[in-house]
Amino acid sequence: MAAALALARELLDAARAPRFAEWQLGVRRRIHQHPELAFQEHRTSALVRAELDALGVAYAWPVARTGVVATIAGPGGAGAGPVFALRADMDALPIQEMVEWEFKSKEDGKMHACGHDVHVAMLLGAARLLQSRKNDLKGTVKIVFQPAEEGHAGGYHVLKEGVLDDVQAIFGMHVETSLPVGTVGSRPGPFLAGAARFSATITGKGGHAAGPQHVVDPIVAASSAVLSLQQLVARETDPLQGAVVSVTFIRGGEAFNVIPESVTLGGTFRSMTTEGLSYLKRRIREVIEGQAAVGRCTAAVDFMEEELRPYPATVNDEAMYAHAKAVAESMLGEANVKLRPQIMAAEDFGFYAERIPAAFFGIGVRNEGAGKIHHVHSPHVVFDEGALPIGAAFHAAVAIEYLDKHASP
Ligand code: NI
Repeated sequence: MAAALALARELLDAARAPRFAEWQLGVRRRIHQHPELAFQEHRTSALVRAELDALGVAYAWPVARTGVVATIAGPGGAGAGPVFALRADMDALPIQEMVEWEFKSKEDGKMHACGHDVHVAMLLGAARLLQSRKNDLKGTVKIVFQPAEEGHAGGYHVLKEGVLDDVQAIFGMHVETSLPVGTVGSRPGPFLAGAARFSATITGKGGHAAGPQHVVDPIVAASSAVLSLQQLVARETDPLQGAVVSVTFIRGGEAFNVIPESVTLGGTFRSMTTEGLSYLKRRIREVIEGQAAVGRCTAAVDFMEEELRPYPATVNDEAMYAHAKAVAESMLGEANVKLRPQIMAAEDFGFYAERIPAAFFGIGVRNEGAGKIHHVHSPHVVFDEGALPIGAAFHAAVAIEYLDKHASP
């Protein structure tokens, strides 16, 4: 590991060199000022392509509308040797930035509050490091700038285009606002939840509230359904396995003296395993239809999978996790590589992890001394930019070490 240790440190030093660091900071801040929502990342995509052009890196575009997949290969040529992929997401959130700083979002109601601007800058940094060491690469690295992580399953659409069909392993990172800058962390096996949504309309027969014998009341049926849904996790799920069902809206009726014709309700359900997610989906339908029937109503349950595809759980491959962890330890020291708990948040990186041996890591961006204490998706969140060179070097070192390990002699 002595050579590996030298490599990861060397990459980090290169990324921290003044000219490199200034360039990467500029990239991040330009993206931060012009956040774009899912599948609208035209300007961000153009910026990525311009930077790749400047580096002399070839790419495929458009992939899944706005996505860019760059390829950097060793002397064997593209596709030769092991093929490894690195991935970043590009989209922002519909949030008004409340942070007053020089590079505040110029787009009304849009903000890079999930740090995907940082992700793109880290991955461009990795492209620059890999390109400068191209002649030593023992295989091919595909660099994925992916659209639409926030709710729209961009990762699924990138995979569907077949551009990653020859990839043997993949690595990704997300800024982690509970980890201090200078640290990274993850865990083997299930890391992030699988997530899906449901909505249902329960229909009865409306009428005067004074004459319940003449109506079929969907409000009572919906109330029973909401309560029964809460038993799916409490009574049907292994207490040591993470899962949640949350009803987040319920609408029905407007008048004090009228029983409405129908009630709609809906929410989210999540599980740390993709099997657990399928189980909940099946049972949510049965419970709502069953409770509607008890109340003499009918129910139509919709999982909206066409518009908003459910995300599978993000499960880290044990060997890939161990590989990335060893690289991080050699770069940052063992104490700065943390074992993280499972979290109920979801990520469309799960689509890659379902198909390809994968590792997904959190990278620390918290800095309490500097007041950088808010969490992702907050309009007040500030990411410590000290993570940028670390992310670039971590990506590049994970890829290079993978190719070194898996190249045929
Ligand atoms: Ni995110």
